[in-house]
Amino acid sequence: MELDRCMKERRSIRKYKDKAVSKEDVMKILDAATAAPNAGNLQNWRFVVVDEETKKVDISKACSNQNWISTASTIIVVCSDIRDLKRHFGEDGEEYSSQNCSAAVQNMLLTSHELGLGTCWIGGFDKEKITGILKIPDKEYLKIEAVISLGYSDEDGEVPEKYDMRRIVYFNEWSTIR
Ligand SMILES: Cc1cc2nc3c(=O)[nH]c(=O)nc-3n(C[C@H](O)[C@H](O)[C@H](O)COP(=O)(O)O)c2cc1C
Repeated sequence: MELDRCMKERRSIRKYKDKAVSKEDVMKILDAATAAPNAGNLQNWRFVVVDEETKKVDISKACSNQNWISTASTIIVVCSDIRDLKRHFGEDGEEYSSQNCSAAVQNMLLTSHELGLGTCWIGGFDKEKITGILKIPDKEYLKIEAVISLGYSDEDGEVPEKYDMRRIVYFNEWSTIR
């Protein structure tokens, strides 16, 4: 699929068919994640792939009771080990952790769309609850950056309103004119 079409067609999907995503597709999506640019090539991202029903229900509860999440075939919890980033970049390492993982997430969403799969990037989650559900060691250098739901879409997805370019793009200097 052409990149421009893939970017513009992708929508957040919050209703999924009762059909499993193959492990092969999940691995393609994870491979795309690792192709993302990342500070110092330190690859701080870690991925927990969840397909157990009870865990999916628990995760959806830990995501502010967004119950639709549990209908996804697979949930990918994007985590980060920030030790190398902190060592190399000091305090900036924490910020780079999120930026690296966000780039990885976008790669995953676009690759999923190309594979005919629906996704939603979920940022509303209770870190402690997810840590407990996934048995993530309770270490200050391990972060949870994002949750992604993945499955065969059972909806068109809402087309969001986009701001006019004049509101968000400035040339050469900041502009407050709208
Ligand atoms: C950092 C981040 C956090 C988000 N958290 C949630 C969430 O918790 N629940 C949800 O339904 N959608 C969530 N979304 C999806 C956005 O609502 C969605 O991307 C936005 O409305 C634009 O729609 P589109 O993805 O279809 O283009 C999140 C997206 C991002 C980037």
